[in-house]
Amino acid sequence: MGIITNLTRMWLTRSAKPFIFKNEYDQELPFAECDGLGLYVHIPFCKSICHFCPYCKVKYEKEQCDRYIDALIREIHLVGSQREGRKTATSLYFGGGTPALVADCLKEIIDALQEHFIITEGIGVELHPDNVTPSVLRILKNAGVTKISIGIQSFQEKFQSILGREQVDMASLQAALSEVPFETVSMDFIFALPTQTFADLKADIDTAFLMGANHVAIYPFIDFTFTSSNVRTMPKKKNGCFWMKSPVIAWRKDMTAVPSGHSPVKKKQSIPP
Ligand SMILES: C[S@@+](CC[C@H](N)C(=O)[O-])C[C@H]1O[C@@H](n2cnc3c(N)ncnc32)[C@H](O)[C@@H]1O
Ligand code: SF4
Repeated sequence: MGIITNLTRMWLTRSAKPFIFKNEYDQELPFAECDGLGLYVHIPFCKSICHFCPYCKVKYEKEQCDRYIDALIREIHLVGSQREGRKTATSLYFGGGTPALVADCLKEIIDALQEHFIITEGIGVELHPDNVTPSVLRILKNAGVTKISIGIQSFQEKFQSILGREQVDMASLQAALSEVPFETVSMDFIFALPTQTFADLKADIDTAFLMGANHVAIYPFIDFTFTSSNVRTMPKKKNGCFWMKSPVIAWRKDMTAVPSGHSPVKKKQSIPP
């Protein structure tokens, strides 16, 4: 390990002790005493890969995906049966990747989890806009999903094209959301893209609420070095620029105005895993 890495580690951990990787969770996941336990299930498959995306994912192949789901269900029973009875968990969230690619298996995964856990505050699923169709939404709802989070990124063609994504079909999106309602409908946006202004972002947020969202999460564009993205990031220092001060931010529907400076509701975590 290089000297800079060592110094950074010491500074971040406030300790000169080296990291020791013990593989202690390979055999056991000690969640029994954990208060406020939340469950996260990762589905690492996507129809196509976005160049800017840092998450753990591969291009969807049915056979590989089927094997993953079988292994996932076995793992759930292996971990869940390490303690007697059903442990309370506040929430269950399916992220990705694109979990809706396995929409037909979600009920089976949720049933497996519910054999070992009591989920008290609902089940969430992350969706690609292509997944927002009445038939997929109905499958999710019937499986017990209460919250959906849709990766819109932008409703504006020029920013979707910078990100290499297709323009969102707004009429279909709105129709599907009104046909199959959910308790929470969140939409993700990426901001601080080349040429993007504050007004562009505000227009996207306003449109989200018109489309049927009741929650919005915005992420400043991050150029992760290990991705193949060639999107130009904003200059690091720009005095008075709203988004240089903003980490991941969430709005609720009842907040009509974008606040100046810092946002009123900040998510505790940064980018989800
Ligand atoms: C797992 S991802 C995407 C969900 C879904 N697969 C989709 O593509 O619509 C969750 C969110 O992270 C954000 N995100 C992804 N890459 C990012 C990046 N390089 N910088 C900032 N935010 C990013 C996007 O807003 C995205 O919707
Ligand atoms: S942004 Fe979404 S669809 Fe694109 S690669 Fe990442 S997880 Fe997959």
